[in-house]
Amino acid sequence: MPHKIILDTDPGIDDSFAIAYAIAHPDIELIALTTIYGNVTLEQGTENALKLLSAFGGKADVAKGESGPLSIEQNHPSDYVHGKNGLGEYELPETDAKPVELSAAEYIVKAVNEAPGEITICAVGPLTNMAKALELDPSIASKVKEVVVMGGAVFHVGNITPVAEANIWNDPHAADITFAADWPLTLAPMDCTMPVIFTREDLQLLADENPKMGAPLQAMSEFYIKFYRSVAGLHGLVPHDVMALMWITAPGAFHARKGALAVATDGPAIGQTLFQAQGKTSLSTAFDGRPNHTVLVDTDVKMFRSNYFGVLCAK
Ligand code: RIB
Ligand code: CA
Repeated sequence: MPHKIILDTDPGIDDSFAIAYAIAHPDIELIALTTIYGNVTLEQGTENALKLLSAFGGKADVAKGESGPLSIEQNHPSDYVHGKNGLGEYELPETDAKPVELSAAEYIVKAVNEAPGEITICAVGPLTNMAKALELDPSIASKVKEVVVMGGAVFHVGNITPVAEANIWNDPHAADITFAADWPLTLAPMDCTMPVIFTREDLQLLADENPKMGAPLQAMSEFYIKFYRSVAGLHGLVPHDVMALMWITAPGAFHARKGALAVATDGPAIGQTLFQAQGKTSLSTAFDGRPNHTVLVDTDVKMFRSNYFGVLCAK
C-alpha cells in the first residue's frame, strides 16, 4: 500500500531534493504539492513547484497556500541561501501547468476528509498552511494518518538565530498551533538533518545515473553549496527536507524521542522550538495539555544515504 503524501513546501533547493525523492520512490504516491512562502515568495514557490513536477515527470496537484505568516511581520525570503528564484538561479524549463482552484488549506482539508486515516502531510516550510487547515476544519487532526514537519532545532543550534530554525522562525504562531494540535506528529529538526551532507561527488553521481532529476539538482545546488561553505565550512549541502519523507519510508534511519513541543512566539528567543520529554514535568505552563509527539534527534547517515541514492539512481 503506497504512502499517500501531501508535501507542503517552499521550493527551495533542499525542497527540490525532497520532491525528486517523493516522485522517484516506488512506495510513495505524491498526491499534491501545497505551496507556502519561506525560501521564496508564494508566487515564486508555486511557479517552482509546477516547473519541478514537469521537469521531474511527477503527476501531482499543486495548491497555492498562504503568502505570509499569521501575525508577525513577514521576514525576507532566504534568497542568500536559495537564490532569488529559490533554485540557485538555475532556470527550469517553462511549463503550462497551473495550480488547482482550491487553496492549500482547502485542499488539505478536502483530501484528509475524503480519505480518513490514509493521508500523510509532510510540511517542509513555514507552518502557516497547517495552522489554516486546522482552523478550517479542526477534525482533520483525528483523520490525518501522520504529520511530519521538517523544522526546529531542539538540542542543536538554530540556523537563523542561535535558537531558531527558519521554518519555525518564519511563523512561530503557526508552528505553536501545529505542535499543540492532538494529531500524530513527527518533527525532523536540525538535530537529525545537519549530520547529512551531499557533496559535489554525490551530485555528479545523481546527474550521471538519473539525468532527468540529477542534472537540475546538480545545477541548482552550486549556489547552496557555496552558502554552506561560507557559513559552516561544509563541503556540500544539507538536504534538510528529505528527512520528512525518509521518516515515512525508512524510519529505521532515525533515533527518535517522545515529548511535548511548544514555540517561543516573542522576545529574543522568538522561533525557538521547546521540547519537554515525555514523563517530565517543569515549572513551565507552555506544555500543559499538549500531546507527546515524536522528535528525530539523530540520523544513521549511512542508511540515509544508501536509501536516497538507491532510490534516485535505481534503474
Ligand atoms: O531550515 C531549513 C528549512 O528551511 C528547510 O525546509 C529549507 O528548505 C527552508 O525551508
Ligand atoms: Ca523547505
